[in-house]
Amino acid sequence: MALVTGANKGIGFEVARAIAQSGYVVLLGARNPTTGREAVGTLTSERLDVRFVELDVTRMETISAAAARIEADFGKLDVLVNNAGIADSHDGPPSRVSIEVMERVLRTNFLGAVAVAQAVLPLLRKSHAGRIVNVSSDLGSITRHGDATWKYAHVKVLGYCASKAALNMFTVQLAFELRDQGIAVNSVNPGFTATDLNAHRGQQTVEEGAAEIVRVALLEHGPSGKFLETGGELAW
Ligand SMILES: NC(=O)c1ccc[n+]([C@@H]2O[C@H](COP(=O)([O-])OP(=O)(O)OC[C@H]3O[C@@H](n4cnc5c(N)ncnc54)[C@H](OP(=O)(O)O)[C@@H]3O)[C@@H](O)[C@H]2O)c1
Repeated sequence: MALVTGANKGIGFEVARAIAQSGYVVLLGARNPTTGREAVGTLTSERLDVRFVELDVTRMETISAAAARIEADFGKLDVLVNNAGIADSHDGPPSRVSIEVMERVLRTNFLGAVAVAQAVLPLLRKSHAGRIVNVSSDLGSITRHGDATWKYAHVKVLGYCASKAALNMFTVQLAFELRDQGIAVNSVNPGFTATDLNAHRGQQTVEEGAAEIVRVALLEHGPSGKFLETGGELAW
């Protein structure tokens, strides 16, 4: 069974659909019960076993309740996809981005993912092959940002980029900590995908954006501590 956060729309919705199509029961996490239930309705009408769980990654009580529900209903968790994320229109370059904006973005994209993973870790330990996929971004790659010729080098929105770089650090450290426990932890860059996050300026479809996340989520006993995208590995 799998949990996908922020799955009422965008890449997360497509990830939930594809994981369910491969035979998993999927808990579709959404902070808004109305949009979450609508998304579940769409997928159940496709005869998929997808269930709604209220989950706001910035609200600890919803995280604890979701973990308790998984424990009661399933007794274990095989896959966690930490997909929920925001971009903030007031985000900006390091010289002047506001601390308040940075806090908001880091709270969702970084601390939210850490909090959800910590809450469900005891359940992942009960799976025969637990997996955590942290949905990151090439905008979180310090190596790419250090290259002035990189095509997105001008996208210096510190809050978002730092949140994904921090998420990558979580991936590496948790993968190391769990290296002997049969739980794989990886970061995946979906690539620039047309969603609400970027006012649909992305150049890929959500199916394309979801593909590598789904591949890694379904991979039992695969690599751990990697930063992956369709076609290979990225530099941290
Ligand atoms: N699109 C891209 O080009 C791209 C590229 C690289 C990485 N990513 C990453 O991919 C992930 C999915 O983004 P997307 O492009 O699919 O964007 P999206 O369509 O805006 O979807 C974001 C999802 O996250 C949810 N969310 C936001 N804050 C949340 C919170 N506090 N608790 C729970 N859910 C929350 C949103 O819920 P609401 O509907 O309630 O707002 C929505 O379901 C994000 O982590 C993003 O950073 C996207």
